[in-house]
Amino acid sequence: MKTLKTQVAIIGAGPSGLLLGQLLHNAGIATVIVERQTPEYVLGRIRAGVLEQGMVDLLRQAGVSQRMDTEGLVHGGFQLALGGRQVHIDLHALTEGKTVMIYGQTEVTRDLMAARELSGASTLYEASNVVPHGMKSAEPFLTFEKDGETWRLDCDYIAGCDGFHGVARQSIPADTLKVFERVYPFGWLGILADTPPVHDELVYARHARGFALCSMRSTTRTRYYLQVPADEKVEDWSDQRFWDELKSRLPQVLADNLVSGPSIEKSIAPLRSFVVEPMQYGRMFLVGDAAHIVPPTGAKGLNLAASDVSTLFNILLKVYRDGRTELLEKYSEICLRRVWKAERFSWWMTSMLHTFEGNDAFSQRISESELEYFVDSEAGRKTIAENYVGLPYEAIE
Ligand code: APR
Ligand code: PHB
Repeated sequence: MKTLKTQVAIIGAGPSGLLLGQLLHNAGIATVIVERQTPEYVLGRIRAGVLEQGMVDLLRQAGVSQRMDTEGLVHGGFQLALGGRQVHIDLHALTEGKTVMIYGQTEVTRDLMAARELSGASTLYEASNVVPHGMKSAEPFLTFEKDGETWRLDCDYIAGCDGFHGVARQSIPADTLKVFERVYPFGWLGILADTPPVHDELVYARHARGFALCSMRSTTRTRYYLQVPADEKVEDWSDQRFWDELKSRLPQVLADNLVSGPSIEKSIAPLRSFVVEPMQYGRMFLVGDAAHIVPPTGAKGLNLAASDVSTLFNILLKVYRDGRTELLEKYSEICLRRVWKAERFSWWMTSMLHTFEGNDAFSQRISESELEYFVDSEAGRKTIAENYVGLPYEAIE
């Protein structure tokens, strides 16, 4: 058996694991990341693209913001298209100057991978059968297989940054965890295309035929989504069918402006709300998608991962520098306060903007009226805006 030793063992080289690894490395705390897939596979996944100010600041703090700061698009607002009506949510004006950054998760991951490679810190890709052990003891460790050999990685702490299907959460005895979950009866069919965006801001469209979202990755690459039934097959959606359906759900001026083109990627993602409590077990901490999932409507998934990373990093920093081990117990409760607020906002945006087939006529009108109330009231628009730009991170005192 090969043996290794580090301070913080990180499972998963997605954005959570890589960002935590970078912050810890910069602070002189040793990490080893153990990832099941190849780097190419990790980069092949197309995910979110809206970064809150808090995440932007954290990437800057980690020293990986150079390309984001030149290539990312700063957005001071977004559009809500409600039937024929278009409402501008002026994030900048409603939140005293806050904005979001349009920069794809794939690019964030690429920048973090490059920074880690440069730092010389170790990432073990294609590690199979990763298992955490001794989380309740003072000497936790991971075992895994790589290149036909069994490895053991001893550490002080384990960060479970291994996503929704990862091993970290599944290694915690089920009777110590409480699971909160809602599965929605629809998914999002998304396409990526090299076409100019239909609008210079993101457009969230509520329509009787179903929700649609016009997002972008740059001024020449678009990411568009359609609400589809949960059992829809991607093979049934030709590019032409997608563009026709998208046009039918947008206000006329936008439909007239829409430039279509061949898709580079097309896939369907289910929508789910999920939280596990607590987000820790002994010396193992769950970070990001390993602990919670939000439906993508509020653009919160990646941003919540970043706030967990910030919380764990700041706690570990105080533990290693000042011996503040009592802070470790607080990780879960600090994270969960912010997680639940983002869960609420993501659920609310999803409920307001999608068509729910089972809804009776009364519920339908109430939901239309609720959204109209919010957008017609300055207080309502402020509520939407302050959640969309991201609620503050809690300080670790
Ligand atoms: N062993 C090792 N690595 C694993 C294992 C395992 N058993 N299971 C999963 N992984 C790896 C995955 O291959 C993936 O690279 O963990 C990584 C988890 O990455 P993500 O799923 O991207 O999760 P996270 O880093 O928390 O990112 C937050 O925000 O926008 C959302 O869902 C979106 O991925 C995004 C997330
Ligand atoms: C995306 O660009 O992929 C995206 C943007 C905003 C969302 C969800 C997804 O709310």
